Amino acid sequence: GFLAGMFSTATQTAAQPSATSEEVALYFATQSGTAERLAKKFAKDLKANGHRPVLASLAETDMASFASQRCAVIFASTYGDGEAPENSRSFRDALLAEDCARLNSLRYAVFSLGDSSYEQFCQFGVELDERLADLGATRIIGRVESDVDVDAPFAAWKDTCIATIGKKNGASPSVSVAAVPIAPVSVTAKPSLYSRDSPFPAEIVERRALTTGTSSKLTMHLALQLNESLPYEAGDACGVIAQNDAALVDEIISLLPFDGTTPVDLPKIGSTTVQYALTQLYQHTRASRKMVQAFASRTQHKNLLTLLQPEQGGHLDKYLYDRGLIDLLSEYRGAIESPSELFAILPRLTPRLYSISSSPAAHGHELHCTIAVVKYRSHNRERGGVASTMLSDRLEVGQTVPVYIQPNQKFRLPADGRTPIIMIGPGTGVAPFRSFLHERRALGHKGKNWLFFGERSVQTDFLYCNELQEMCDSGHLTRLDTAFSRDQATKIYVQDRMLEHGALFWSWLQEDARIYVCGDATYMAKDVDAALHALIEKHGGMGPEAAQEYVTKLQDESRYHRDIY
Ligand code: 2AM
Repeated sequence: GFLAGMFSTATQTAAQPSATSEEVALYFATQSGTAERLAKKFAKDLKANGHRPVLASLAETDMASFASQRCAVIFASTYGDGEAPENSRSFRDALLAEDCARLNSLRYAVFSLGDSSYEQFCQFGVELDERLADLGATRIIGRVESDVDVDAPFAAWKDTCIATIGKKNGASPSVSVAAVPIAPVSVTAKPSLYSRDSPFPAEIVERRALTTGTSSKLTMHLALQLNESLPYEAGDACGVIAQNDAALVDEIISLLPFDGTTPVDLPKIGSTTVQYALTQLYQHTRASRKMVQAFASRTQHKNLLTLLQPEQGGHLDKYLYDRGLIDLLSEYRGAIESPSELFAILPRLTPRLYSISSSPAAHGHELHCTIAVVKYRSHNRERGGVASTMLSDRLEVGQTVPVYIQPNQKFRLPADGRTPIIMIGPGTGVAPFRSFLHERRALGHKGKNWLFFGERSVQTDFLYCNELQEMCDSGHLTRLDTAFSRDQATKIYVQDRMLEHGALFWSWLQEDARIYVCGDATYMAKDVDAALHALIEKHGGMGPEAAQEYVTKLQDESRYHRDIY
């Protein structure tokens, strides 16, 4: 009911022109780029409504410049245990500091991004929103708490927000700022009959290694059988509902002072058993700060207390990386006494998202995923990613796995089949591009296709080598440039290939090519972005600022898309 009320306000107000033009500061706090993407999209819409948006990362914002704003919209992502993205913590600290200046003349709105399977859902956004109100700032519109899928809540919120920004002088008597509800809005889009909460049991019809035996990695091709009630599009992701390894769960239970059949009543879940919760509901393969804090406070063990001291920073990260719940339980027996103590320190197990590597036009109701199997040995134990080892070791062809489709509206082929596309996808980042290539071929789209692919070694890690080679031979794949990083003394990466072929890359941009990047967000996507700027500067004869403007324009025209993780 609340939501319906809010959306009808949206349609009434959005159609009217803005009463006043405003400079609006758009801040984003992001780790993987989603909040930034939303801020940019919002900037475009603000501009279209006659406002003057100014974009900035909270990572580069100081309190003085923030406090000088009159109107600000903040897109805030949450990480881990309700925390701010790493790069935004100093802003957060300054805002929460006791001596922070009053912000009486600021009007603001917060769009928070989170994942409700974590206890501290959207915590950073909540913190910002409440602190700004405490400091005297006025809400333009109630805070949004988006849950994993951000696009639907964003689409629903933005028009009302923009309309309200323009109505600061109460131009329309029918909509005053106060009339906009300020309670949090929580929206989850349901893409089809099946969803995260009601997944589809998909049969595994094929599974094979894409890397060969001697590779240092295992990357797998997985084919699932869907049906017409679970459609997807090229560019979408597949959500996999994962389960923990039963053997690991048994081992954990053997270290607890209660057994697996012990009933437990969990917040937001209801009653279940310890065994079920440890298998299906909670994540425990990786240790967390929260776990170490709980074990430290209960045991008062010197090692744990030392790890938590701020000057030991790096040690804690390494400690957490090498361990899971099982290690803490076996080293510090007796720290956990009840099921409720146990589940209070574990995060919820979340579905794993894999970019789909098949094409609906070419593969019908089959869905393919390209999965890097995470396995490593640390602290005297073999360990693995929950979903990837489930799919590679614990399930067989013929068995089913619960899945749903996570639409990715921002990562789509151009509607015009003649538009050239440039795809940059090292490692499993190649997945959506295999989908794009098959889709374009099946649809008879004749636009030029250029793929940059990178992996460790040509002999063992050339994913989909035969298919890609064949697409090159037939001319469907106009260019394939590979960067095998470990086949020579110095590393070669996809961005090196982009620069090598910078002149050609630039000429494709003149032909209205679209750029797509998929894969690692931490290093690769940043380096590829830097290479893009460099080649535009060099071949477009521009300085850094002009190149930045050029890239921003590419983004505004939906010609530079990233699906990074
Ligand atoms: P490396 O592991 O040899 O360093 C897929 O993982 C490929 O991406 C590998 O060849 C990997 O190389 C490479 N890679 C690692 N860091 C990268 C970066 N910053 N930019 C682009 N590719 C990178």
